[in-house]
Amino acid sequence: MALTPFRSPRPISYLPIPEPLRRREAKTLELPPGPRSLTLTLSFQRDTPGFLRDVRDRYGQIASFFLGRELFIAAFDPSMVHEVSVSKQRSFIKGVGFERMRKVLGTGLLTNEEPIHLRHRRLMQAPFHINRISGYSRTMLELTRKHLANWQPGSTVEVGPEMMALTFDIVADILFGTDIKGDTKAVQESMHIAIDRIERTMLPGLEKTDGLPLPYFKRFERAADRLHHIATRIVNERIKAGIKRDDLLGLLLDAETSDGEKLSESEISDETLTLILSGHETTANVLTWTFAYLNGRPDLWNGLAQEAQTILSQSDSEDFAKILFNAPIVGSVFNEVLRLAPPVWVAPRRAVDDVVIGNTKIPKGAHVLISQYVTHRDPRYFTSPDSFLPERWVNDFEKTLPDGAYFPFGAGTRKCLGDQFALLEGRIIILEVASRFKLNLIGGFPLAQPRATYRPKGPVAMRVSEAQL
Ligand code: HEM
Repeated sequence: MALTPFRSPRPISYLPIPEPLRRREAKTLELPPGPRSLTLTLSFQRDTPGFLRDVRDRYGQIASFFLGRELFIAAFDPSMVHEVSVSKQRSFIKGVGFERMRKVLGTGLLTNEEPIHLRHRRLMQAPFHINRISGYSRTMLELTRKHLANWQPGSTVEVGPEMMALTFDIVADILFGTDIKGDTKAVQESMHIAIDRIERTMLPGLEKTDGLPLPYFKRFERAADRLHHIATRIVNERIKAGIKRDDLLGLLLDAETSDGEKLSESEISDETLTLILSGHETTANVLTWTFAYLNGRPDLWNGLAQEAQTILSQSDSEDFAKILFNAPIVGSVFNEVLRLAPPVWVAPRRAVDDVVIGNTKIPKGAHVLISQYVTHRDPRYFTSPDSFLPERWVNDFEKTLPDGAYFPFGAGTRKCLGDQFALLEGRIIILEVASRFKLNLIGGFPLAQPRATYRPKGPVAMRVSEAQL
């Protein structure tokens, strides 16, 4: 029987991973300062973004610490973020957490390493080009309208699950068309179980527990297998039927490099799971945060409702995507939420060479963390860094920022493939909601539950009322 991703070994064409540096070996190294308390793992686990921010405040732009007895170096200055993700990216591979994610997603773009990653990236770039993505804007709008038809003024909606269901439907529809209809629930359920278990066992060393015959890991394995079987079946059925469709799956099946290279069936199957996962959770979380942040800003709700009237009336225009990208209020709101609540809030890496970041020597084998959450709150670039101020994004503010100061979609060859997709989808959903409704938080502002993505804790209940213009 073919191996499922859960049981598959690390592909042999990847570069070997250097041994992690343990506390004892690191004693002889000159390390940047950092906390050395024995209860560090606990405070890291309890509130990782808060821990990282505190480390930056106390020890400066680069700091070291040990988790699970392995050396971690966190780099916060924008110039260092740029070095890790762009100018010296070859010295790093993806780090802690991604190995485990591969057990669910197989070898898709998110988890792949070189040389396979760049080959796939080249093949998958075209379907995500802005010209192609624009063609999806109408599907995004239609599905949003269909979804919002269930919202009634006077009722309460749980914005978190609502956004999760909507963004899932959008990515599934654009990827597979109707082929996934019968499997939607199974995919959502299995993804939920698998991701929950990846997240709870993210620290180094815990991957060794996967083989234990505990129901907890058995459920993880079953969920991963189920996802793999569904994706493989959908891809195989499409190929067998020989029907050409111009959904994303059709484009991936046709994708070919100039020298005739194509993705295999199993590669496409892994890529589809990767796109479903990375293409819905992130956007759903940032949208949920958006509606929570807007709660304190009725002026913005009104501004958005007015902007929606002008923009959405042009949804039949060929330039609809361009018009959306130029819409100032929704653009600033989305940018600001991506700054304060970046769904991908930390990017773990592993140094595969000795490399200098800033003026600090990072030894081969060290875990390296860069964090959107911390760097996006650097007061040198963002005044009142914790305040929700979409106004800061006017007058091309982003262009005044140094490289690496604002990177909600990452940078370099590992930059998000779906950034334009997400920016378009986010704008459409926010505007469509604002054109019909105003939402008010029922409880207080949601707490964060930062795991693999930075998500609000709980469902975020909001009262629906009619939009006021
Ligand atoms: C607001 C929504 C989103 C945010 C903030 C976001 C952010 C990111 C970030 C930061 C990375 C890089 C992770 C790293 O370097 O460790 C990434 C990778 C990726 N994202 Fe997104 N993403 C979003 C939505 C999407 C969507 C809608 C799709 C697809 C439809 C997508 C597909 C991917 C893929 C395939 C990768 C891996 C790229 C590679 O390594 O070549 N993302 N995303």
